Amino acid sequence: MFLRLAKFTPVFSLLLALAPLVSEARPQSYAIWAADSAIARGQGNGLTSAGQPTVSYEHGEFQWGLRLLYELTGNRTYFDYIQAGVDNIVFPNGTIHGDYKFTDFSQDPVRTGPTFIYLFEETGQKKYKTAADTFRSQLDGQPRTGQGQFWHKLRYFNQGWLDGIYMGEVFYTAYTNAFQANNATAWADITSQFQLMFDNTIQNATAPNNTGLMYHGYDFSHTAVWASPDRGHSPEVWDRALGWYAMALVDVLEMAPPNSGNLKSTLLRILNVLAPKIRDAADPTSGVWWLVITQPGRAKNYFESSGAAMYIYALLKAVRLGYVKDADGSIVAAMRKAYNYAVQNWVVPNSDGTMSWTNTVHVGSLDTTGDFNYYVSQSVDVDDLKGVAAFLLASYEFEKLKS
Ligand SMILES: *[C@@H]1O[C@H](CO)[C@@H](O)[C@H](O)[C@H]1NC(C)=O
Ligand SMILES: *[C@@H]1O[C@H](CO)[C@@H](O)[C@H](O)[C@H]1NC(C)=O
Ligand SMILES: *[C@@H]1O[C@H](CO)[C@@H](O)[C@H](O)[C@H]1NC(C)=O
Ligand SMILES: *[C@@H]1O[C@H](CO)[C@@H](O)[C@H](O)[C@H]1NC(C)=O
Ligand SMILES: *[C@@H]1O[C@H](CO)[C@@H](O)[C@H](O)[C@H]1NC(C)=O
Repeated sequence: MFLRLAKFTPVFSLLLALAPLVSEARPQSYAIWAADSAIARGQGNGLTSAGQPTVSYEHGEFQWGLRLLYELTGNRTYFDYIQAGVDNIVFPNGTIHGDYKFTDFSQDPVRTGPTFIYLFEETGQKKYKTAADTFRSQLDGQPRTGQGQFWHKLRYFNQGWLDGIYMGEVFYTAYTNAFQANNATAWADITSQFQLMFDNTIQNATAPNNTGLMYHGYDFSHTAVWASPDRGHSPEVWDRALGWYAMALVDVLEMAPPNSGNLKSTLLRILNVLAPKIRDAADPTSGVWWLVITQPGRAKNYFESSGAAMYIYALLKAVRLGYVKDADGSIVAAMRKAYNYAVQNWVVPNSDGTMSWTNTVHVGSLDTTGDFNYYVSQSVDVDDLKGVAAFLLASYEFEKLKS
């Protein structure tokens, strides 16, 4: 007893002395700080900054984080904010309104669908189920490649993008789980969406600057200007595209029930290929990732914040839930390092008590050249919700690690 006290007292009193300093410099929860700051700015509430209804995947991403915080803290503010946000885009009769257009067959708006299902389950209000049914019928008519991959949008002829897996499959899984748990065709289809995307975009060993990661997308018809002649993939590994795909892997794994065919085994296999490669692709000094992962250190390339936050969320969650073993602890250690860099470099306290989040690239699309110069010339945002929401999620996982 005495021995233990003697050993621990100095450390303990040092901690006590530092405590006020530490708590002033760092909030108790960055997840809550990020959420409350975005709410204070009115972000992710189903409206554009001009107040028009918008059916937006980044709102869906943010609502996913708010739901986790609601479940963690019981703070009703988060639930009410989610519901008010969806009520801005779903009429009382269940029609989805705002900028949603069924006939665009875009997967992006579908990412708000998991929130509809959640609200239906929590409130029993039929309008949310009706709205979810609309997205489900969109998927029934979604154009597909010859192999069966959903096109990203009708106007992106034969193109599969990594982003689309997060936009479409998280909803597809949530819907099947809630309403069609015995639909073996749907489970096989979801499995195939992940697998086809992986097979068609994974860098092979002879690729220049091989990272073993996935290119942003591919064109099954090989006609897009950016399509490689051999496999039709786009030229670069873009950090956020892979971030969406990685988050979809862990979120779908968590939702998939035992009777979902080969879904779990397929996703586990893919995740266990990607997780160590994502760890190894981090810049050795900073611990975070280049915007264009395939061109480390090239002039104009930079460390981008949304992709990093997505990897931290996905890999910490993968280890926490036992999807990835991390026997030597190297994955968690790498995510800790990346998280500390993120907090020190990308979190900015504001005088009104909120925080801002910097260094998130505004867009990355395959509608032009899809090359290095394209990605590095896109604008970089402060408080871009795609990044803020990802930081909320990363912080949620990081804070679970500590507790
Ligand atoms: C719930 O969250 C809101 C902000 O989002 C905050 O203002 C409020 O104090 C929280 N309530 C509790 C009981 O923590
Ligand atoms: C649902 O309500 C909206 C708003 O009142 C209306 O514009 C729309 O036509 C309705 N849809 C159906 C299918 O009745
Ligand atoms: C099952 O899923 C498939 C594929 O999405 C769909 O075509 C079919 O309508 C679904 N079956 C039922 C009974 O809902
Ligand atoms: C691997 O990638 C290189 C470069 O993109 C390509 O030339 C080659 O055909 C690919 N090999 C296979 C087996 O896909
Ligand atoms: C490989 O990476 C280097 C260093 O970032 C870069 O300069 C070069 O352009 C890359 N090559 C290809 C083919 O991507």
